[in-house]
Amino acid sequence: MMAIPDNATKEQIQIVTPKHVAIIMDGNGRWAKKRGLPRNAGHRAGAENLRRIINASVEFGIEILTIYAFSTENWDRPKLEVQALMKLFARVLNKESQSLHEQGVCIHHLGELTGVNPDLTRKLHDALELTKHNERLILNVAFNYGGRSEIMHAVRQMLADGIAADDLNEELFNSYLFTKGLPDPDLVIRTSGELRISNFLIWQAAYAELYPTPVYWPDFGRDELWGAIEAYSQRNRRFGQTDEQIGKA
Ligand code: IPE
Ligand code: IPE
Ligand code: MG
Repeated sequence: MMAIPDNATKEQIQIVTPKHVAIIMDGNGRWAKKRGLPRNAGHRAGAENLRRIINASVEFGIEILTIYAFSTENWDRPKLEVQALMKLFARVLNKESQSLHEQGVCIHHLGELTGVNPDLTRKLHDALELTKHNERLILNVAFNYGGRSEIMHAVRQMLADGIAADDLNEELFNSYLFTKGLPDPDLVIRTSGELRISNFLIWQAAYAELYPTPVYWPDFGRDELWGAIEAYSQRNRRFGQTDEQIGKA
């Protein structure tokens, strides 16, 4: 049963809960700047907000939540910011792994770990191991993730496995991606007003509904997530077909 938030609109929207929600958590730096704070304060506020969004995702019955935490391009940021972000990820893993486990969250990692600090890598592996049998919510953490690098990684693996050109199909290709075994995202949310995909799930989001919002990530709370689900519920997903074919005419 869907739990309707306290402030849900009274008008009758038939709520359709997206099974897989993916979020580009953007705008931490601008959130901080607006308050006269250093960028890292924005990243800390962003990490705290993630807690709220995980709780809300469980409450709303979302099955898979994919979050873009650090892109392959984010390494090009100033060294001190990258260092602070790595420290923050380690701290979040320390602080949250156990409670995520108790909440029934199963953590997956999307991305590669070569070049990532060994201590952080170990913490991430521990969290994956601890939570691997949980079934309430799959939390995909896209960390050191890039859609192009994911596709290159998949192609390299397929060549190494000697896959013949005639045997290649989309299903097989999917099984070489970091998201193997999972359905494609239904809804991709991007906070902070940017209207681009920034190398996030470029294969998997082929037919995702996009929800851009001007709200900076640290302020994108439970009610904003509900707003995105309401908007999603009113979309007509055609997958290339006509309204008549999908019964919406
Ligand atoms: C998102 O916030 C966090 C990461 C990319 C790690 P930003 O740091 O990109 O914040 P803005 O876009 O500069 O405001
Ligand atoms: C996308 O945000 C990456 C993450 C949220 C981790 P960016 O802030 O890196 O994206 P651009 O540079 O504005 O496209
Ligand atoms: Mg940004």
